[in-house]
Amino acid sequence: MLDRIDEVLEEINLFTANSNNEVEDFRLRFVGKKSVINELFEEFKSVPMEQKRELGPALNKLKNQAQQKLIELSDGLISKSNKREAEIDVTLPPIHNAEGSIHPISQTKNRIIEIFERQGFNVEDGPEIDNDWNNFTALNFPENHPAREMQDTYFIEKDPDVLLRTHTSNVQIRLMNKKKPPIRSIMPGRVFRNEAISARAHCFFHQVEGLCIGEHISFKDLKNTLYYFSREMFGKETKIRLRPSYFPFTEPSAEIDISCFICGGSGCKICKKTGWVEIAGSGMVDPNVLENCGIDSTKYSGFAFGMGIERITMLKYELDDLRLFSENDLRFLKQF
Ligand code: PHE
Repeated sequence: MLDRIDEVLEEINLFTANSNNEVEDFRLRFVGKKSVINELFEEFKSVPMEQKRELGPALNKLKNQAQQKLIELSDGLISKSNKREAEIDVTLPPIHNAEGSIHPISQTKNRIIEIFERQGFNVEDGPEIDNDWNNFTALNFPENHPAREMQDTYFIEKDPDVLLRTHTSNVQIRLMNKKKPPIRSIMPGRVFRNEAISARAHCFFHQVEGLCIGEHISFKDLKNTLYYFSREMFGKETKIRLRPSYFPFTEPSAEIDISCFICGGSGCKICKKTGWVEIAGSGMVDPNVLENCGIDSTKYSGFAFGMGIERITMLKYELDDLRLFSENDLRFLKQF
């Protein structure tokens, strides 16, 4: 019987398990009710007394060894599977990260704000729904003047004095009413015009307007401010050109063009072969506008400008359809 015990002990020592099934095999063979060790205990009952003294401790030792080994085998399996989890396979494709991004219009707006803030402008805000005075009359659009036709307006039916602002110039009026010069502010915001929706026009879009009022502010300041802006926004090589224009609220008025940053001025599709692209309207604030807001036009002068954020964004990214900005198509938005 001692030989049998030795044999079983050796079998136990040599046993290895790589799966739960193999651990279970071990348990059935050496630890369970019908195990070889239990069989030996059965046999043990009928051995003569004098052999029992020697066989008893050997059998108990065998039983303990088997139980100990069972614990080791199952512990070994657990730590093996933990190890597998801890091993990160760096060659696997990354888990898709569905993070959002900042809308291209907001990106351009933030960049414009950043550039003007560096020139000492602060940001002002105002309402999208306003009255005729703030949107038109105070800005030197006389009643029934054809200039009002330039901006197809959405009026509120019940009260034609209330409208959706057609430009952010309403914030200029509100600002000059509450704050006296010096003023150096920009007004970003959404504006509305009753236009047929196409690749080039929409019934709403975004503008940034600027206003600078103080003593001895001249056309030279307007030019320099927009020259600095253009170079920061479109690159250090950018040149600007001013073309005479007309706005009721500025006199003189000028359209600002920049040298085409795509072709460098030699002529391409973006600049329609002219070498120049228009980016803003501007001018010296008409004295009537200053007086309408209680600012002494003999003491103060100033300049104003306004640009479309969609237009700047389209130029910068060479986009040709304005509608993309408001369609919320993720295939488009994900590219920014
Ligand atoms: N308010 C003008 C527009 O929306 C832009 C502009 C602002 C032009 C300031 C000149 C000066 O068309």
